[in-house]
Amino acid sequence: MLKGKHIILGITGGIAAYKSVSLLRLLIKAGAEVQVVITPAGKEFITPVTLSALSGKPVISEFFTANTGEWHSHVDLGLWADAMVIAPATASSIAKMANGVADNMLITTYLSAKAPVFIAPSMDLDMMAHPSTKRNIELLKSYGNHIIEPTEGELASHLIGKGRMEEPEEIVKFLSRFFACQQDLKGKHVLVTAGPTFEKIDPVRFIGNYSSGKMGYAIAEEAARRGAMVTLISGPVSITTNVQNINVIKVDSAQEMYDYCISSFPICDFAIMSAAVADYAPIEYCDKKIKREKDDIPTIRLKKNPDIAAKLGSIKKDGQMLIGFALETNNEENNAIDKLHRKNLDMIILNSLQDSGAGFGTNTNKITIYTKQEEKIEFPLKSKIEVAKDIIDRIIQK
Ligand code: C5P
Repeated sequence: MLKGKHIILGITGGIAAYKSVSLLRLLIKAGAEVQVVITPAGKEFITPVTLSALSGKPVISEFFTANTGEWHSHVDLGLWADAMVIAPATASSIAKMANGVADNMLITTYLSAKAPVFIAPSMDLDMMAHPSTKRNIELLKSYGNHIIEPTEGELASHLIGKGRMEEPEEIVKFLSRFFACQQDLKGKHVLVTAGPTFEKIDPVRFIGNYSSGKMGYAIAEEAARRGAMVTLISGPVSITTNVQNINVIKVDSAQEMYDYCISSFPICDFAIMSAAVADYAPIEYCDKKIKREKDDIPTIRLKKNPDIAAKLGSIKKDGQMLIGFALETNNEENNAIDKLHRKNLDMIILNSLQDSGAGFGTNTNKITIYTKQEEKIEFPLKSKIEVAKDIIDRIIQK
């Protein structure tokens, strides 16, 4: 899986840097082209000569070569890479990556990297267990980075605990598995709805909701990264995506979202309805701003919006899958299962506003998946990026 892949191996200043030599050898043996980027502290642990001899490339550590003035572009490096692996990643480098402190070549390269990033922490057990390290690792996960968890055992301090960098063989397996599943949606067409809908009252007012679109965009991006062609029909949101193979169609109202879904669905292998579609829209649209009257309180008469998920459920063909969301505040399980059957879905993803960190606007979510085969799979609170992975994994299993 690693043959021909361009990999940046980032080495920071920790004792486990000696294992990076084995990691480099294994990556090269697997057919990867590796560019080593090392921090100034990393060079205290392992010499660039060893690393350049094994990789067949000069090791990069500074922004430019002092005697020639040759500039090392972290932007070009970031674009060149298919993956970046930081092993070992010390507490200090983890903190810098989490907070964008770009004071060395490795961190600037990390901030410029477009490719997936894998981070193998390595530190003493107390540093590993410190709330600041834990928070920084959670932040890195929420940005979509992959953490290769450290193992338990004897540490450089001779203390025993969690903090040993994962073994090079395991890191290579982790990367290989990632590249193997990366293309598991190749050739598939996926439809995703995301965000709220705005139902216009007059030129300046609308009926809407707090949906940020983050969950739907994360799902669309995960599907596209795994090789799918994605049509993302998005209500008005402030986020954007620059992941390739996503055709974003921006809409305002439920009716517009419905029209695009109906025309896109027939060629899709599966559709994930994560939009928070307004249930009702004003019957009349007033093309002038409604003025405040002295005594009269205006009445907005409403009509029902089309139920997009239910409609797709009724026209779904064999081989197509339809997945819905249920955002509930009470009687969650019953409501979700009811929607699963009523809309002829194959799977419904429940998130409850009772769970803190779940629902609109947050970067995290806590979901339970119910399938039409009556399975129930509960997940812990995770970043929306990780939740998107869990959802796509389940769909692929089905
Ligand atoms: O609003 P409700 O709770 O019934 O929504 C459940 C599912 O149906 C969600 O997946 C939502 O995106 C979808 N839905 C829709 N069109 C609507 C209402 C909801 O596609 N008008």
